[in-house]
Amino acid sequence: MKLTWLGLILVAALAACSSNATVGDDLEKRVDELISQMNLEEKVAQMAGNGAMPLPDGGLLWIAPGVERLGVPPFVMSDGPRGVTAAAGATTFPVGLARGASWEPEVERRIGAAMGRELEAIGGNVLLAPTINNLRHPSWGRSQETYGEDVHHLSRMAVAFVRGVQEHAIANPKHYAANSIEDTRFDVDVTVDERSLREIYLPHFRAAVLEGGAASVMSAYNSVNGQFCGENEHLLKQVLKTDWGFDGFVLSDFVFGTHSTLGSALNGLDLEMPAPQVYGEPLLSAVHDGDVPESVIDDAVRRMLRKKLEYGLDQPNDLDRSVLASDEHLALAREASVKGSVLLRNESSALPLDVGALERIAVIGVLADTPNTGDTGSSDTEPAFVITPLQGIQDAVGDEVAVDHIGTDVLDPEDIATLEAADAVIVVTGLTAEDEGESLIGAGDRVDLGLGAERVKLIRDAAAANDRTIVVLEGGSAITMGEWLSDVEAVLMAWYPGQMGGHAIADLLFGDASPSGKLPITFPTGLDQLPAFDNESLEVTYDYFHGYRYVDRNDSVPEFPFGFGLSYTTFRVDNLRASESEARAGDVVRFSVDVRNTGLVAGAEVVQLYVTYPESAVMRSERELKGFAKVTLGPDETQRVEIAIPVNDLAYYDVAESVWALEGLVHEIHAGTSSRDLPLSTTLSVAAARPVLVY
Ligand code: BGC
Repeated sequence: MKLTWLGLILVAALAACSSNATVGDDLEKRVDELISQMNLEEKVAQMAGNGAMPLPDGGLLWIAPGVERLGVPPFVMSDGPRGVTAAAGATTFPVGLARGASWEPEVERRIGAAMGRELEAIGGNVLLAPTINNLRHPSWGRSQETYGEDVHHLSRMAVAFVRGVQEHAIANPKHYAANSIEDTRFDVDVTVDERSLREIYLPHFRAAVLEGGAASVMSAYNSVNGQFCGENEHLLKQVLKTDWGFDGFVLSDFVFGTHSTLGSALNGLDLEMPAPQVYGEPLLSAVHDGDVPESVIDDAVRRMLRKKLEYGLDQPNDLDRSVLASDEHLALAREASVKGSVLLRNESSALPLDVGALERIAVIGVLADTPNTGDTGSSDTEPAFVITPLQGIQDAVGDEVAVDHIGTDVLDPEDIATLEAADAVIVVTGLTAEDEGESLIGAGDRVDLGLGAERVKLIRDAAAANDRTIVVLEGGSAITMGEWLSDVEAVLMAWYPGQMGGHAIADLLFGDASPSGKLPITFPTGLDQLPAFDNESLEVTYDYFHGYRYVDRNDSVPEFPFGFGLSYTTFRVDNLRASESEARAGDVVRFSVDVRNTGLVAGAEVVQLYVTYPESAVMRSERELKGFAKVTLGPDETQRVEIAIPVNDLAYYDVAESVWALEGLVHEIHAGTSSRDLPLSTTLSVAAARPVLVY
């Protein structure tokens, strides 16, 4: 963040030993002063975008005006889930789901900071990211943008990204809330009971706002319980602004996200984007007619102004464009792809490939040499280059190994002969922007979770020709593999791996790094293991269970469970201990586990803690992720890993009394390396308490 006049006030205030309250008071005083100098027209004008500013190289930044005569700066926005979309040549990172699979919030904080810095360099100050909707079903076309299916994991990643972005700009967690169907996204009404809403669909927004300090939130297109999210009294006024005490601003999703002047203004929407439709003139008239009190306008303007000053938007940006795709940011994109790729299968140690022991390999499939960085929706970026898997592999093996490239998905007899002659075959396949993405400007939702007949045949033909067939899969969500999985030796899920993905894939294939990604979503064997996905009806119901909570409840065995991922080494977890065996509301209990690398190479493991509620009197998930930590270990190395769980995180939402409550229960805590591999357990007795603060 830049040092602004406000920063100077802060420093001066601290030097004079003033309290934080005084600092905050100074800011609020300044905000009030500015508002008192604005006329109604100026205030209302700030509540709607006024178009876009084209950049010299073709990008677009969305603008929401300030008040020039008073030196109040505008908001200048770009999309950002996988990179700053407005800037041609900005870094394209792996998509959110790939980064979620790293289970490394610190890497995500650095990515947020890199995007924030690149946005600053092109004159922007609000990044329309992160996307943090739960991946309720892998058919969702925008699955790739979010971090995963679990609230705790989503919260940790969201907080990290928001903090990183806000080192340079304002972050904008989206889409609030229950937004996880594309094809009906503008009209669908999601009925969701209050407990599911509070425990499953909202906690990561709460974390992004309260822990991450997000200065803004974007409301979703869909409606929730009969009211569009851009004018949803419960979501905006009650939960976000009252219960959580959010002091930032809410902006609408673009063009189709607002529906009525009074509904939006009276229920808490502060900024309509990207242009006035229900705000602007209609809002001005509504104030003149007495339908919207001026205090409502003042509140919205105050929220925006507060953040403009807090984040120094009135100061010139550091416009040094050399940060765009700088070496540092490209290295980070590669690191993120290495850390987020998930090794799903590795029979007979087919991977890693030993360059010294290979003479020729075949790299096949349309995607082998195709840039494949994600969908064509609002998160689409314009990287200056993309390292494809083929290029990464060629760079890694140099002249030491002959690489036969077959760039088609349909093999002829000559191709088969080439595969038969190879020491190993690498099939690069998966999904593309033609299979999944944002609706209207992308492919929308997926109806089938498989790869389609042609790509399945490609894999099977390759496996029939060569018994060392390795599949590198790209895509933004779960893919079913039953038709071909047992035919191949190894599967590496690389997601949409960003512009440095080819290098990252090669790093993993040839053992320069050991895979350490873990699935942040369940990979089912088929649709029958999942809740229904309905992208046709305009009324759907979301309940408490999806993802691992759903397969656990039904006792089904997914293809690959939540939290799963292999490595080139092996780990052993031991000695789960808790700092206390009894705890009460407000306590933080520290759990620790010994992790030992029992294999021959360095690697990283993610220790995961899940809580079960054996005697609970209320409906609960079979188990819930409540903590995790990733640890890197050399061969034979052991480290004690500590994971803290705030006891209040074990509370449930008591709908009848509208409070969070802790049950007086013996909780079981299970530790291990995936949701279905939990060899260690201990117990924690918690005293009943209500209400408890979960934020
Ligand atoms: C998307 C948002 C995006 C906005 C601006 C909308 O269609 O849903 O995620 O930020 O467009 O591009």
